[in-house]
Amino acid sequence: MAEATAPEAPKNLSDPEVCTREAERILKENDRGGYTVPTPGLYPFQWNWDSCFVALGWATFDEVRAWQEIDSLFAAQWPDGMVPHIAFHREDPGYFPGPDVWGKAAIWGDRPAVATSGISDPPVAASIVLKLWQGARDRQQAGAAAQRLYPKLMAWHRWFHGARDPAADGMVAILHPWESGRDNSPDWDTALSRVPADGLPPFERRDLDKIDAAQRPRKEQYDRYLSLILTFRERGYDPEAIYAASAFKMVDVGTLAILLRADRDLRVLAEALGHQQDIPEFDRWIARGEDALERLWDEEAGSFRSFDLVSGTFADAITSASFLPLYAGGVKPERLIQMIEILDRWFATTAYPVPSFDPEDQRFDRLRYWRGPTWAIVNHMIAEGLSDCGYDDRAARIAEASARAIRQSGFWEYFDPITGQGLGGDDFTWTAAMWLAWARHFATEN
Ligand code: DGY
Repeated sequence: MAEATAPEAPKNLSDPEVCTREAERILKENDRGGYTVPTPGLYPFQWNWDSCFVALGWATFDEVRAWQEIDSLFAAQWPDGMVPHIAFHREDPGYFPGPDVWGKAAIWGDRPAVATSGISDPPVAASIVLKLWQGARDRQQAGAAAQRLYPKLMAWHRWFHGARDPAADGMVAILHPWESGRDNSPDWDTALSRVPADGLPPFERRDLDKIDAAQRPRKEQYDRYLSLILTFRERGYDPEAIYAASAFKMVDVGTLAILLRADRDLRVLAEALGHQQDIPEFDRWIARGEDALERLWDEEAGSFRSFDLVSGTFADAITSASFLPLYAGGVKPERLIQMIEILDRWFATTAYPVPSFDPEDQRFDRLRYWRGPTWAIVNHMIAEGLSDCGYDDRAARIAEASARAIRQSGFWEYFDPITGQGLGGDDFTWTAAMWLAWARHFATEN
């Protein structure tokens, strides 16, 4: 592997105050009027979980804008409750696959159609809305926004628990690696290799115009990403038909943990906002989610792992998502001990944890997207889970490392876990948001 060199530190960012002004600038510059693009050029539309994390950043200096971010995302919700992973609010030829490839527009209520992708994203929205509502300075505005969003959040959760868990046993599936948000994670290698990649129409990736290929997924993965989209499009994105047809059907430990946490958080909102009639439904989802998470514990690996519903086997990887059950809550004490042992081993080999993939695994690649690099948003969730479980010291270590990477290198999409070098897209909105809402509070003197 080529030796990565730590970049020259952008001098002024070592001052946390300067970092904060810079993070606010990035949010404002990436604002396209009610929604924020993740980064100009590479990702010129609204991405689902990006926007949710970004709302936390907005909330630190503009609550109105924070609520708008969530409202604009839900403007793209499909009538069946699905919230797509991309809302193509405006045309931009610089991204592949654009709306012409997805071929479907969603219509919500009396709003004009919003062109969207046809798959979803990790459902962090309910947890973010709860946080925004709990922390709001303007209580009246927050109450109205939470009431407005509640039925839309509920519809999305019902979609996950129905369309993606037809057996109603809690094993909620993702049908495309992009639905995990961790596109090229080794978690998907085996399952993705079963997806046919022959007979595809010619296509041109646009990400490689902007980012070094060594930091992005490989061609064999892109072929299969496209193949799955075409399979779903041919079936009109009918949930039953695509569930049956997809050669890729994974229970992603990350998505499952995020959904369980979001179910718990939406239940809190339901009680507070007077939706008591929904409580039994939440209790059923939470009980099933806890059972399903328990099934994702791989005794042999001593870790949670994603599960392949087609082959009936665990994914052959321990990734940063293996720690997200901490964020879901309810992990048994004996499991916690084993998870912390692994985390401590990863701490020992990476100065900027948490790497997205096991640094002791031969396939670890510290530059390539979800196969090694550290991501601030995943760190935020792992740290929150660690604190909830009483591991404040490790939570602070992760937050401090995230702050250090940003001050050293800038607001990059992801970071080399060994040197802290910034990777992927620059001026990245969710990294700026994570600084504003979280990491800056852990910045140390040096
Ligand atoms: C991309 O295009 O790289 C995205 O991660 C897919 O949504």
